[in-house]
Formats: sequence, C-alpha cells, structure tokens
Amino acid sequence: MNETRTDIENRVFLISGGTSGVGKAIATGLARLGAKIVIISRSAERGQAALKDISEATGNHRGDWVAADLSLQSSIREVSDVFKRKYDQLHVLINACGAVYFKKELTADGIDRMFAVNVLSHYLLTNRLLDILQESGPARVITVSGNPRFLKNPVINFDDIQMEHQYSTMRATNQSLFARTLFAFELAKRLEGTGVTSNAFYPGFVKSNLARNAPWYLRVAAPLVNACVKAECGVGVYLASAKEIERTNGVFFDDKKQIVPIHTKFDDGAGNKLWTLCEGLTSY
Ligand SMILES: NC(=O)c1ccc[n+]([C@@H]2O[C@H](COP(=O)([O-])OP(=O)(O)OC[C@H]3O[C@@H](n4cnc5c(N)ncnc54)[C@H](OP(=O)(O)O)[C@@H]3O)[C@@H](O)[C@H]2O)c1
Repeated sequence: MNETRTDIENRVFLISGGTSGVGKAIATGLARLGAKIVIISRSAERGQAALKDISEATGNHRGDWVAADLSLQSSIREVSDVFKRKYDQLHVLINACGAVYFKKELTADGIDRMFAVNVLSHYLLTNRLLDILQESGPARVITVSGNPRFLKNPVINFDDIQMEHQYSTMRATNQSLFARTLFAFELAKRLEGTGVTSNAFYPGFVKSNLARNAPWYLRVAAPLVNACVKAECGVGVYLASAKEIERTNGVFFDDKKQIVPIHTKFDDGAGNKLWTLCEGLTSY
C-alpha cells in the first residue's frame, strides 16, 4: 500500500538534480502526490523554471528551491546549513544529481569533476543532513544508479579513483557509477537501526540533459533520444514514498521496482575503503 496523501503532504523531500532529468521527474511525481518538495539548483533561473514546470504540471505550488553548486564542497556545506535553518524536518533525501564530462576537469577543490559531482557530492550532502534525517525518522536516502546489466562486475580502481592516469569518459563514468552505488550500500550498513534507510535504483530511460557537455554530434542526437523516452520515474517516486518499503535497506531496485542483488557483487571491505577515501577528500 502506498503512503496516504495526508502522510505525503506532511513529509519534506529534498532532491539534488531536481532541475532536470531523473531528479525533476521524481520531484514532479512526488509533487503530484501532494508532497512538499525542495530542489537543489546551482542557478536561480533553472531552479525557478523547474518549480514553475512542476507546479503547472501538478497543481502543487508548495515547491521550494535552495542554491548549491554540488561540485564544490563549500557550497554543499552551505546548502545543508541553509536547508536546516529553513526546515526542521527532512524525511527523504533523493541523490539524483549527476553529470558526464568528456575531458578531464578539476573542481576548485582540486578534485576530478566527474568524481566530485557523481560521488563526493552525494557523500558530503548526505552526511551533512544525517542529523536532520535521523531526527525526522523514519526517513530515507535514495541514490540514482545505472542499468543493472552494467553493474555485474563493479570493479573500482581505488589506486586511481579520480582517473588521474589516462582519463577515459567511459571508464570515469562507469567508475563513478560503481562508487555511487557502493556508497548507497555502505551508507545502509552504517545506518542500521537508526530509522533511516539507504537504497540505490536504476531509473530506466528518462528524458535527460546529460549530453550538455558532450561533443556536438552527441548533442545533436540528444533531442531525438529524449523524444523516445519517458519524463517520469515511477521507481524513484515509489522508493521515496511507498509505505511497504519503509524498512527496506541496502538494496538495489531496477526500473520495474524489483530488487536486483547487486549489493553482493562488491568486494568485502570495498564500501569501507570508499568511505575512508571520501572522508579524506572532504575532511568529513
Ligand atoms: N536519464 C536517464 O535515463 C538515466 C538512466 C540511468 C542513470 N542516470 C543517472 O542519473 C544521473 C542524472 O542523470 P539525468 O539524466 O537526470 O541528467 P540531467 O538531465 O543532466 O540532470 C542532472 C541534474 O544534476 C544537476 N547538476 C549537475 N551538476 C551539478 C552541479 N555541479 N551542481 C548542482 N547540480 C548539478 C543538474 O543541474 P543543472 O540543471 O544546473 O544542470 C541537473 O539538475 C546521472 O548520473 C546519470 O548517469 C540517468
């Protein structure tokens, strides 16, 4: 059984990446159920435009946005403080922000941009919000991942996790996808018994702006691909809101809302290794 409408109306959902793609699709689905949604946007213009689209599509005008560039640790620290000053509860954090960079770039913190946006942002934002999530429990963290078919052999090269040698967009994308999924599982272990759960999910094909940094020939093809795929993310809305999975922790859901045993594919101790690495890179 799903949450009742009244339950959802009283719950606060914070969505990273809520201006586009998977995050916006989930924000829209939750708004349609009457939820209080707050999206993170790095630009006022895009944040406000996304909220306008969502309220026009759903009739839910309670949406809000907070500002952050999630590639920058100072900005993540600031947005978590701003959120906690504005809201005294957070029931669901949706880690849906992500990007693909087609050449090696470093952030102002000196971190590989792909790793910073796709992995560290989720690590730092989630950890900065764990206190308010625990106070608001039962609460959830859900983290977007990739197609389970490509997660069958999730090898992470901890000696070169930021692809400092021989950067390849494909390998950096895969590695950040594996690391983000492993982050969700390790978080789940650390949250056992706290009233907060962590799960990962594959959204299926959802309309996306991921090609924005791509070479021109991929950017040209993007509208054609987007014309063929959905603007909804049913599994994301389900994971964020369904009552029957309130206690489900540390697993991976595919786009059909089925659990796929990907958590068994990672080496023992890999999650702890990733955590220690993220701790070192963020001092958090
Ligand atoms: N779409 C799919 O079919 C699909 C399928 C499987 C997995 N995924 C994964 O889901 C993730 C999101 O994909 P998507 O399709 O939703 O991409 P998208 O349409 O490009 O949306 C990405 C979102 O992340 C935000 N973002 C990126 N960099 C940011 C930064 N530095 N600071 C703050 N926000 C930032 C974007 O904000 P702006 O609006 O400011 O750019 C946007 O809201 C990716 O990691 C992708 O691999 C997507």
